[in-house]
Amino acid sequence: MPLLDWFLRHSFAMWLLLQSFVLMTFCFHSATTFPKGCYQAEEDGYRTFRCSNAQLTEVPKDIPNNTHKLYLDYNQITYIPNDAFQNLPVLMDLDLSHNAISRLETGAFRGLSEHLNFLDLSSNKLVSVNKDVFINLKAKTNLSSNPWLCDCMLQEMIRLVELDPGSSSSILCDKSIQEEHEGKPFLQAVKDVDFCNVYKKTTDIAMLVTMFGWFTMVISYLVYYVRQNQEDARRHLEYLKSLPSKQRKSEESSTISTVV
Ligand SMILES: *[C@@H]1O[C@H](CO)[C@@H](O)[C@H](O)[C@H]1NC(C)=O
Ligand SMILES: *[C@@H]1O[C@H](CO)[C@@H](O)[C@H](O)[C@H]1NC(C)=O
Repeated sequence: MPLLDWFLRHSFAMWLLLQSFVLMTFCFHSATTFPKGCYQAEEDGYRTFRCSNAQLTEVPKDIPNNTHKLYLDYNQITYIPNDAFQNLPVLMDLDLSHNAISRLETGAFRGLSEHLNFLDLSSNKLVSVNKDVFINLKAKTNLSSNPWLCDCMLQEMIRLVELDPGSSSSILCDKSIQEEHEGKPFLQAVKDVDFCNVYKKTTDIAMLVTMFGWFTMVISYLVYYVRQNQEDARRHLEYLKSLPSKQRKSEESSTISTVV
């Protein structure tokens, strides 16, 4: 029965075609509702949303609000605006590594304080970050491989951050207000120097030198004054010693004159 055979084979092919067409429209549909290059999955019981390597230049809108883990790594995101992750009430992991982030607005991670466990900001372009960005955030944070400027601002910021223990030694000073720390790990540098007290220390030394200068001037003037006075006093004494004899002589002469 070649006809039936032909029909069966072709209907199977038709069915496959239809199936793939339905699948394709479904995929296309989901691709339009999700940001381009992103997909949702369930991994180990956690809902993950992956936008790794998706050529994103900003944090995408419309991330499903039940996302536990969000991967935005390997993109070209340059800055994180206020409230970028505000509608993600169960977010635990946030991976922003390998982007070009150089600026975090103060409220960038607002709304994540209670539940975020891990925040990866490594391999970005962060130089200085206001400490208020991390206020109330309890997440273990990876700040390694950024061109940090080691100064008081960084010191105050890092004091507030729960650093990821595995990454803390690779927070390097790209620049530093103390040149000798450039290229060194920040946590090592901060053992030698209090970046918030460098300025105060130099002013203290300047004040000490000035005071010492004044002190020596006053002392040398006193010494000079005393010496000068001693000289004067001696001269005066000599003068006084010489005085009575003259006086006596004149007195004598006057008495003589009166006698005469
Ligand atoms: C997500 O948003 C929907 C509708 O806005 C809401 O019903 C749901 O409770 C939200 N889910 C979470 C985890 O907040
Ligand atoms: C922190 O980031 C660096 C650079 O991206 C990476 O090599 C390291 O594994 C990260 N550490 C942790 C604990 O994730």
